[in-house]
Amino acid sequence: MTRLIVILAAFTAAAGCRGQVSEEPPVVPIRNMYHQPRYDPLEESQFFEDGRTMRPPVDGAVAREMEVNASFATGRTEDNSAWLLEVPAPIVQRNGGMEAFVQRGQERYEIYCAPCHGLAGDAQGLVADRADELGFSALRPPTFHDDRIRHMPDGQLYATITNGIRNMPAYRHNVPQDDRWAIAAYVRALQITGASRPTARNEARAEETNQ
Ligand code: HEC
Repeated sequence: MTRLIVILAAFTAAAGCRGQVSEEPPVVPIRNMYHQPRYDPLEESQFFEDGRTMRPPVDGAVAREMEVNASFATGRTEDNSAWLLEVPAPIVQRNGGMEAFVQRGQERYEIYCAPCHGLAGDAQGLVADRADELGFSALRPPTFHDDRIRHMPDGQLYATITNGIRNMPAYRHNVPQDDRWAIAAYVRALQITGASRPTARNEARAEETNQ
């Protein structure tokens, strides 16, 4: 046995550690790890009653990133009778508290919404301007400072982002759920302050209007 180990070690030292890739099949004394019964994808199974090799997830299985709380996922109350009036507190908490949450919302808003809705939520986005130029004025979104949207429950705002509405696309696949709530919180902040932030673009626009 000792001799065998010494021989194997010498063999490894001589042939192995040279950084060369061997073209030879590996020497595997115990082959039962290589040769096991297995199924190919979509192959018929003799083992399972329904004949399917690829097993569906067991009942109640959830993906890791899936929200199990239906209210948080849909923006509706538990009995699905109304919109949630406010962003659920646990979502704010697990994202570092309101200040951090709104800041995250601002960052995401400026990436995903501002091109159409404008940095101030006043519908003065570049995409809306371009749509006007091309004669598609109907594609300009409403301003968030409209009374109707100011009085919209947070859950409905969140659901609008999630599902889209009429001419506006849905963001359920590009923006993760908590970020959609954060954006809703930031839209609320925009509505409360009602102010447009001084950007180069807004200043240029103000100058134009003053002339
Ligand atoms: C591609 C342009 C575009 C982007 C990007 C966009 N929207 Fe919109 N949004 C629209 C248009 C257009 C409407 C008006 C839809 C209609 O009534 O046909 C709209 C409408 C809305 C409304 C009003 C819904 C109602 O009930 O009338 C809200 C709220 C809203 N968007 C929020 C957002 C938020 C938040 C984001 C970012 C996640 C976003 N939108 C991104 C184009 C856009």
